Amino acid sequence: ASAATHHHHHHHHQQHRPAGPRSAPRTAAARRSDLLSATLAFEDPSAFRVKSLGELLRALGIFRLCSFPVLVNHCGKLMSVARTLLGRRGFSLLLRPTVYAQFVAGENEREISQSMEKMSLLGLRPMLAVPIEEDLGESTGEKRYDDNMEAMLECVRMSHSNAWSRDPMMQLKITALLSPELCVKLTTLITQQPYDLNLVVRAMDGEPINFPGLDESEVAHFLCGLQRLNKIAEASVNKVRVLVDAEYTYMNPALSLVTMAMMKKFNKDGSWIWNTYQCYLKESRSLLLDALCLSKDEGFCLGVKLVRGAYMDKERKLAEKEGCLDPIHQCWEDTNDSYNGSLDVMLEVISQKPERYRIIVATHNEESVRRAAKRMEELGIDKDGGAVCFGQLLGMCDHVSLTLAKEGYAVYKSVPYGSVEDTLPYLVRRAQENRTVLQGIRKERDLLRKELRRRLRLSK
Ligand SMILES: Cc1cc2nc3c(=O)[nH]c(=O)nc-3n(C[C@H](O)[C@H](O)[C@H](O)COP(=O)(O)OP(=O)(O)OC[C@H]3O[C@@H](n4cnc5c(N)ncnc54)[C@H](O)[C@@H]3O)c2cc1C
Ligand SMILES: *[C@@H]1O[C@H](CO)[C@@H](O)[C@H](O)[C@H]1NC(C)=O
Ligand SMILES: *[C@@H]1O[C@H](CO)[C@@H](O)[C@H](O)[C@H]1NC(C)=O
Ligand SMILES: *[C@@H]1O[C@H](CO)[C@@H](O)[C@H](O)[C@H]1NC(C)=O
Repeated sequence: ASAATHHHHHHHHQQHRPAGPRSAPRTAAARRSDLLSATLAFEDPSAFRVKSLGELLRALGIFRLCSFPVLVNHCGKLMSVARTLLGRRGFSLLLRPTVYAQFVAGENEREISQSMEKMSLLGLRPMLAVPIEEDLGESTGEKRYDDNMEAMLECVRMSHSNAWSRDPMMQLKITALLSPELCVKLTTLITQQPYDLNLVVRAMDGEPINFPGLDESEVAHFLCGLQRLNKIAEASVNKVRVLVDAEYTYMNPALSLVTMAMMKKFNKDGSWIWNTYQCYLKESRSLLLDALCLSKDEGFCLGVKLVRGAYMDKERKLAEKEGCLDPIHQCWEDTNDSYNGSLDVMLEVISQKPERYRIIVATHNEESVRRAAKRMEELGIDKDGGAVCFGQLLGMCDHVSLTLAKEGYAVYKSVPYGSVEDTLPYLVRRAQENRTVLQGIRKERDLLRKELRRRLRLSK
């Protein structure tokens, strides 16, 4: 019932929503879709009117730096060298007003609040993300994971208690709560012999399950991790939608297992827990289809975050090193086709059962965004009905987000927050984002320049 309430909130968009295409003749539908591509041209520099001069210059400077391949490709190394040379404080002083300010909302609630309110005014919905994550070899003790859980619970509270956004969402990384070593081991185990989903659900409920294949301490840690996830889900259900991030292929199956267990437990009447599907993976389509089947069989609602994927470099290197098949599509075009295919599948099922399925089209790619908007029209899916929304990252492709919001779509900006230290891996990934993201940024850069020139003219 609580999911249904969201369908009643969108009256203020009613007046400019066109009539459903089912009732309209084909020619009119065609004309409308021309109109749509015209309005979603993403060419309006006025999207940047709201930025201060300092913000314009900062964005221009950072995008300029991102256009040097040498800098971008060695970004991780450069940052760690800079950190050694400048020391922790000096490094922080260098990053804070620059890269950090471009991509991160801040460190404490006051700073975050400021950027959130600004965003709300622009019609964008913030989606908080605690960018704590771990890779292999970075494992920390149970205490640190408990601290991380407190940070996530704090994130649930902030997302819910502030009036920043209707239908609030947040992102969650499971490797902040469960050691990556265990996730890798689980992945190996369950690809040989899948665990029963009910077993995981029962462990979440507090039953001391003895998972086969794990030793005593691993079982203990797994049970603690599931308790932590359970606590977060309990705190957020009916309040904040929790979008679980996808990470590396050598742990994703484990992450999906616990995410599906959370869905089974908490998504009975609405999509409160979501999973992420990375379309750059060759198997992404079958993973999505499996999830659709599972949600139908087990009777839970499915929320999907559809992304292309952010760990390409590392995945490729690892596959090469281990001499196994590259899990990632051969070229960007294949990833693009995969994205289109999965998007289509989701929009199709949503048009049939909007109360059971939800998707966030998490991309900066203008073509993908236009394609989603066009299919929504064709299938008669509400722009702001809750089942479909869009997502971009803070500091990236604001022209896409602002245009979508202006057209009445639900748009979330993923907003990481935390210390320079905690957000560093995230920042490095942002700098390495390639290809059309950079083309998109090139365009954003042109639009930023246009806006800058306009202001200079005005001030003369
Ligand atoms: C709200 C939100 C949440 C996100 N959550 C996650 C998450 O949980 N997990 C995650 O991994 N990422 C996540 N991302 C990051 C997302 O994967 C990146 O935004 C994405 O990598 C950039 O893709 P794009 O569609 O915006 O841009 P595009 O420019 O259209 O595509 C770039 C992407 O295409 C793929 N690609 C590029 N070159 C090639 C090639 N040669 N061969 C094959 N594929 C190629 C890569 O995935 C690359 O990142 C999230 C993004 C957003 C906006
Ligand atoms: C990417 O996919 C879209 C469909 O979503 C298609 O229209 C477009 O032509 C593709 N782009 C490229 C460069 O292949
Ligand atoms: C996108 O995917 C759908 C379904 O797989 C397909 O019918 C359509 O032709 C694709 N569009 C493009 C432009 O590739
Ligand atoms: C980004 O582009 C550079 C050069 O064009 C390339 O060497 C690098 O592998 C690319 N990285 C990603 C993540 O695509």
